[in-house]
Amino acid sequence: MKEKYYITTPIYYPSGNLHIGHCYCTVAADAIARYKRLKGYDVMFLTGTDEHGQKIQDKAEAAGVTPQKYVDDIVVGIKQLWKDLDISNDDFIRTTEERHTKVVQKIFRKLYEQGDIYKGEYEGKYCTPCESFWTDTQLVDGKCPDCGREVKVVKEESYFFKLSKYQDRLIKFLEEHPDFIQPESRKNEMINNFIKPGLEDLCVSRTTFDWGIPVDFDPKHVVYVWLDALTNYITALGYLSDDDSKYQKYWPADLHLVGKEIVRFHTIIWPIMLMALDLPLPKQVFGHGWLVINGGQKIGKSFGNYVPPQEYIEKYSLDAVRYFLLREVAFGSDGNFTEELLVNRLNADLANNLGNLLSRTVAMIEKYFGGVVPEASYEGEYEKSLKETIKNSVADVERYMDKLEISKALESIWNIVSRANKYIDETTPWILAKDESRVEELKSVMYYLAETLRIVSVLIRPFLTRTPEKMWEQLGIATHTEWEDAKVFGLLEPETKVKKGANLFERVEFVPEEPKEEVVENQKEEITIDYLEKISLKVAKVLEAEKVDGSDKLLKLKVSLGTEERQIVAGLQKYYQPEELVGKKVVVVANLKKAKLKGIESQGMVLAAGEGDVVRALVVDDTVPEGANVN
Ligand code: MSP
Repeated sequence: MKEKYYITTPIYYPSGNLHIGHCYCTVAADAIARYKRLKGYDVMFLTGTDEHGQKIQDKAEAAGVTPQKYVDDIVVGIKQLWKDLDISNDDFIRTTEERHTKVVQKIFRKLYEQGDIYKGEYEGKYCTPCESFWTDTQLVDGKCPDCGREVKVVKEESYFFKLSKYQDRLIKFLEEHPDFIQPESRKNEMINNFIKPGLEDLCVSRTTFDWGIPVDFDPKHVVYVWLDALTNYITALGYLSDDDSKYQKYWPADLHLVGKEIVRFHTIIWPIMLMALDLPLPKQVFGHGWLVINGGQKIGKSFGNYVPPQEYIEKYSLDAVRYFLLREVAFGSDGNFTEELLVNRLNADLANNLGNLLSRTVAMIEKYFGGVVPEASYEGEYEKSLKETIKNSVADVERYMDKLEISKALESIWNIVSRANKYIDETTPWILAKDESRVEELKSVMYYLAETLRIVSVLIRPFLTRTPEKMWEQLGIATHTEWEDAKVFGLLEPETKVKKGANLFERVEFVPEEPKEEVVENQKEEITIDYLEKISLKVAKVLEAEKVDGSDKLLKLKVSLGTEERQIVAGLQKYYQPEELVGKKVVVVANLKKAKLKGIESQGMVLAAGEGDVVRALVVDDTVPEGANVN
């Protein structure tokens, strides 16, 4: 019977379109899954979407649709993206599916009944975009340590999960399973920064929003994010359902592949949940690094650098994108993504190195032997050396893949490709062809090249999904393309007919994008200093803030200008909880004509900056007195 291998990606938030950084994780998981299948494992590869929570509810509200409709639309796009990237997942779980929600409710109830979940009151700092609570010591400059945005104080009745009770068991487990958290550096970070300082019980329900799985015995609560999300790894297998055969077969997971920022949820909360449920723990959690732009920038719409991943595929081909993602960055570290780097890899490794090897080989076999692969009877020093490189590199590929060093595995394959190109220069077939007496040598060179390409075409199968078949077509190969066939030199049958085809990869000239013309839309007509002096900008302290009834945009503020108090209505509701603004010193236009907004008088305007989802009021530090002029 085949050995099983269960691999998962995180489930993605359908809160916007996914970007190339999200593809990085899924393509890596796909390469590992394909590799394991080729190695003969019975693979279960799971991905999906994490569809509940405040952020989704807010986005749906802003878009004027129900949360379900909102996620349904985005999930269609995510599934299409995985198709476009040839992701070979065996299942796709959505946390809004009944097969998930029902089981989460059962698990919540079980943990409550056995005393591991209890009711309490939560007060904490919460980052809405990241759906994370933070302790004061974790905040950086008072802001979310993950995304740098403002956090808000939240106080509410909540259920808690007793993480603290399991702390010692977790530490013992991590000591006894040194490979559980990978890479090594992430393990030390988890133990020293998160576990050793002491685990706090985890808030696992919320009452301030309702887009979540209701706690069935207390339905004003919905299950809060991690208990819902992490459980997908077992609900997708049918755990606690009528048919749990997949659970029986595939659990525990062999690998949870996750981004570095969610390692802590997977290596603290998840193992403890499983301990509490008395279930086996996954074998490994691997935290990969982030793809960043220009050496450090995060990727995403709110960072102004979003490009739909499909655009890269259309421009450069799917295999070029997959190759880049898997090859460029040492798996585990952060890596830089730019189109120029992608083009460099495409030109150098794919078009020049691999593409040329194939086209030169096929062209020479056509020219010297009428397109028929000859038999090899000669073996000299260059042939021996080429074979040696192949043997060592194949072993390296397996060794690296077993350690999830995907980039190094690809590097090993390209060692073979480079070695074979060098072999052409060493053996100079065009000179051999001129000398009748060296025809046996020439035959061997052609055979060795074609056979090397067959082996390469097998080795790249986990990584590039389109290129192997294109190579087989040109090499006239229909058999000996399974993984183990890469370990045997000489399987290619002589007499095979090759056929020249299109270039495997076209070279691309990289044209740096013209710096964008200044956006003129927002440019307003020039004004003189006299005009500016008509505008009175002043510092005002926010004394009170509340939502305006019947509006999802407006906040009613009471502000102090030192000598007077005023009421200002500001369109900041989407970006601030009212209490967040209280105490802040903001900049206001003080001499704006009085106006009524939603029937409420407003005297002045609060200045704010930003666009899209990120808008912040202009705030000055506390040392500036109320009423001070802004010049
Ligand atoms: N929903 C949670 C995961 C729950 S798993 C039980 C989540 N979703 S996410 O959509 O925000 O992120 C999904 C994955 O994409 C994470 O592993 C994250 O690290 C990864 N990436 C997001 N941006 C990335 C890059 N720029 N580069 C590499 N991976 C990135 O977190």
